[in-house]
Amino acid sequence: MDNRPIGFMDSGVGGLTVVKSAKKLLPNEEIIFIGDEARMPYGPRPTEEVVEFSRQMASFLMTKNIKALVIACNTATNAALDVLQQELPIPVIGVIKPGAIAAAQETKNQRVGVIATLGTIKSNAYPEALSAINATLQTYPVASQEFVELAEANELHTVKSQKIIDQKLAPFKQNQIDTLILGCTHFPLLEAGIQAAVGPNVTLVDPGVETVRQLTEILAEQDLQREEDGKVVNQYYSTGSIETFGEIARTLLNEDLSVEKVKID
Ligand code: DGL
Repeated sequence: MDNRPIGFMDSGVGGLTVVKSAKKLLPNEEIIFIGDEARMPYGPRPTEEVVEFSRQMASFLMTKNIKALVIACNTATNAALDVLQQELPIPVIGVIKPGAIAAAQETKNQRVGVIATLGTIKSNAYPEALSAINATLQTYPVASQEFVELAEANELHTVKSQKIIDQKLAPFKQNQIDTLILGCTHFPLLEAGIQAAVGPNVTLVDPGVETVRQLTEILAEQDLQREEDGKVVNQYYSTGSIETFGEIARTLLNEDLSVEKVKID
């Protein structure tokens, strides 16, 4: 048993989609979340900078005495998972490998689309993770950085957002994918619009779901589960805006939460 909280971090509100999965699967665990709103988006930033910012978020969460860290951001997972796994004395889990595993299990025709930030697409992290699992998989990556801004602005179901999503995802009409990885944690917030754009025959994969399933296993294997006491208190921090962040978080997580502003650099 271990009653310490679990840390979750992202550049912004996207990581909250992973928190949502965690609240569902691990309702007895306490969560501490930080979104680096002041410096988002991470997608267009150089890898070294994302590593540095990830280190700063992780250090902040370590001051809160976390027992495990979830990098609830694909861009930061790609840049900093190895580094943080080496540097921190607790289990650190990222979202890319779990996302690839879930997609490889899901696809029937071996054609998998990936939408993610500029950084994640440029790194080739998903095609590499997918072909390591199954070399016959064909991958179709499309950088969709614009979706991050839509999610952050809480433009989830507007005519404007649907138009941008439709335009961006039009290429998937040609390559007959049957599975699409939402390779940025912001994108599950736009799930309805993305599904409408690619059509009902494409299965959307949210890597956060498999990530939390793997986290559940790690907690069980390492005897890190929290005692059940019915007194779970989660904490939410942002380095920048707290208004829209709080609005999105309250709606998504269905929790009467407040967000505290912190400085981490
Ligand atoms: N949510 C992030 C991801 O999963 C990053 C979005 C951004 O800051 O560009 O990649």
